[in-house]
Amino acid sequence: MREPAARFAGELLAPLVEQGEMDLLYDFAQPYSVGLICDWLGVPADNHRDLLDWSHAMVKMYELDTTEDQAVTANAAAMAFHDYVLELIAERRRTPRDDLVSGLVHARVDGERLSDAEIVSTVIVLLNAGHEATVNTLGNGVRALLEHRAEWDSLVDGSVAASDAVEELLRYDPPLQLFERWVLEDGVEVEGVEIPRGEKVALLFGAANRDPRTFAAPDAFDVGRADAGEHISFGGGIHVCIGAPLARIELEASLRALVERCPGLELAGDARRIPAFVIWGLESLDVATR
Ligand code: HEM
Repeated sequence: MREPAARFAGELLAPLVEQGEMDLLYDFAQPYSVGLICDWLGVPADNHRDLLDWSHAMVKMYELDTTEDQAVTANAAAMAFHDYVLELIAERRRTPRDDLVSGLVHARVDGERLSDAEIVSTVIVLLNAGHEATVNTLGNGVRALLEHRAEWDSLVDGSVAASDAVEELLRYDPPLQLFERWVLEDGVEVEGVEIPRGEKVALLFGAANRDPRTFAAPDAFDVGRADAGEHISFGGGIHVCIGAPLARIELEASLRALVERCPGLELAGDARRIPAFVIWGLESLDVATR
């Protein structure tokens, strides 16, 4: 995906740079990540705003204080998304292509085909997970870079590689502040607190990424730091993010394209946070490209 990721970043940015101003999230990061994941899955990207709306509604269910209204909206979005993917599956069954949806439709596991429900949930989780966090990492990260000009300049003058900076973006302001695990055994104890079997535990990635036992000067945003790669923004264990390599490719390609095409990038207005805690990102990020 490296080559298409770099090419697509350049294509999307060119007209935006001409324009002089953009909302980095709406105009670039969203169509970029959704476009790449759709391309890989074989989902037409022309209705990417629908996919984004469904996804944004559904991920509200990750929050700690979901309201009844949000739950109803998330359910409706899941239904619409489900119907859309079902149609796509039927289409790929009739006319297979060289894409992941066709691959899933024709895959066999222990000699058996996947059920429609399995394919639908796999496609939806990949589509959702495939852009939400990547988009938010770029928004949070570029804001941090532009608020710490020396860090941005170290990318522009080449003293820090984009691939290294990406790790610090992920560490400093991670797009997923926590993930949960269930306690599966008796006798689990953390710092003297006994946690009964069946309880859910929230693991605070944002806090772990600022742990002074692991990171020197943890609150400093430093794209050249040697320990940035120790972050746990992609989780861990058997459920560690399966999309981490793709996310890293996208983030590196986006940063490179931004640095090369708009070295004078500046914030153009106040960024507002999405009023949510777990899915941690900005509503918009207005920037001037020259
Ligand atoms: C910067 C971008 C991303 C971040 C920070 C991120 C973070 C995470 C985290 C924290 C988890 C949970 C891990 C755990 O429970 O230990 C996760 C799971 C997952 N991610 Fe990502 N992710 C990103 C991008 C992506 C992309 C691009 C894709 C798809 C291609 C993706 C697909 C998934 C899937 C399918 C899971 C579930 C894995 C499982 O439960 O086995 N993610 N991600």
